[in-house]
Order: sequence, then structure tokens, then C-alpha cells
Amino acid sequence: MIRDIVAVDSKGGMAKGGKTPWFIPEDLAYFYEQSKRFGGNLLIGRGTYEAMKKGLQEREGTGAWPPAGQHLYVLTSHDLSDEPGVTIIHSLKDFLADMAAAGKDVWNGSIAEVEPDEIYLTRIDGDYDCDKFYPTERLKHFQLVSSIPGQPLPAEPAYLFEVYERVSPQDTPGFI
Ligand SMILES: NC(=O)c1ccc[n+]([C@@H]2O[C@H](COP(=O)([O-])OP(=O)(O)OC[C@H]3O[C@@H](n4cnc5c(N)ncnc54)[C@H](OP(=O)(O)O)[C@@H]3O)[C@@H](O)[C@H]2O)c1
Repeated sequence: MIRDIVAVDSKGGMAKGGKTPWFIPEDLAYFYEQSKRFGGNLLIGRGTYEAMKKGLQEREGTGAWPPAGQHLYVLTSHDLSDEPGVTIIHSLKDFLADMAAAGKDVWNGSIAEVEPDEIYLTRIDGDYDCDKFYPTERLKHFQLVSSIPGQPLPAEPAYLFEVYERVSPQDTPGFI
């Protein structure tokens, strides 16, 4: 089973200039909490790996890496070294085949080419002028199974925690 876990603004934007242009502690806690479930195997690109590492160390100090309960699989074309809790991978196809063969669940945090079975989508109100977008058009093949409003702090935008499940092709009118 592959689950995407992402937060998007009103235009489907995920990041701007290699950074996430919002900081919503409740959403960050949701991301860590959810992505630890079902084995905690989290697939991310090198950019997200570097952003997560920097963000976590800035917030919690150098002892907090990698996030507790998660194993990070970092996709890159570069020759980086593994570290405890972090495995460097160079082929998305081989990685997904290995995980499927091992019967492992995967959480995907940033690689658009991955076809998920479920999507954990935080929808954040507003346009953050992003330059990296989630392929929200894929949602036409999914049904919304849960939608829970967040509890924004006074200066924060409104946000919703949504969960989608893939609808099987034969059940979807017009599915190509
Ligand atoms: N809003 C959200 O939910 C959300 C989710 C995830 C990330 N983000 C944010 O997005 C920002 C990072 O974005 P990013 O554009 O740097 O994207 P990214 O997907 O995290 O990283 C891109 C890098 O991943 C590697 N990569 C991706 N696909 C590959 C492939 N098929 N084969 C080999 N390597 C591949 C490449 O690394 P090399 O250059 O090393 O080859 C590429 O430069 C961060 O700020 C992060 O916090 C936000």
C-alpha cells in the first residue's frame, strides 16, 4: 500500500523556492504522527530530506534526527551516504518493487511519479505563490473518505485534513 502525505495551498502548491512557505505546527505534528503509522517508511526526494533535516534540527536540536518511528528513503541521483534511519536510493522503480516484494507499506512525501492508493491531503486556505505543485488532477480517481477541520492559531489560515481512497477503475464512470 502506498500513501501520499502532503499539504497544499488553494492552488495545489506544495513548496516555493525549495521551501514550504507556511509553518503550521498542527499540520507538522499530523505529518509526523500519520507517517509513523504502517511501518513509517517514508519516501522523499533529496530536497525534502535536506529541508526536513534542517527544520527538525533547528526546532529540536541535533539529537532529533532522523524523526523517531520513521525510516527515510531518499531518492537522489547523487552519491550520498546512508545514515542510521536513512537509506539513499537511486531508482524509484527498484525501490517500489523491493517494498512490494517485502510486503511493506510506503508513505510518499514528495515524488509526483508515485501512484498512491490513498492520499492524506492537508488543504491550506490561501495562495502561497508556489512553484512546486501536487498533481491534484489525480483526485478524480479517488473518493474523499474523511475531512476534519484543523484548529488554526489566531495568525494561521484555515486548513482541513482530508483522506482519499482510490476508487477502482471499474467503479469510476469515465475512468480512462
Ligand atoms: N507541502 C508538502 O506537503 C511538501 C511535501 C514534500 C516536500 N515539501 C517541500 O518541498 C521542498 C523540496 O522540494 P524539491 O523540489 O526539492 O523536491 P524533492 O522531490 O524533495 O527533491 C527533488 C530531488 O529529488 C531527487 N529526485 C526526484 N525524483 C527523482 C528520480 N526519479 N530519480 C532520482 N532522483 C530524483 C533529485 O535529487 P538530486 O538532485 O540529488 O538528484 C531532485 O533534485 C521542501 O521545502 C519540502 O519541505 C512540501
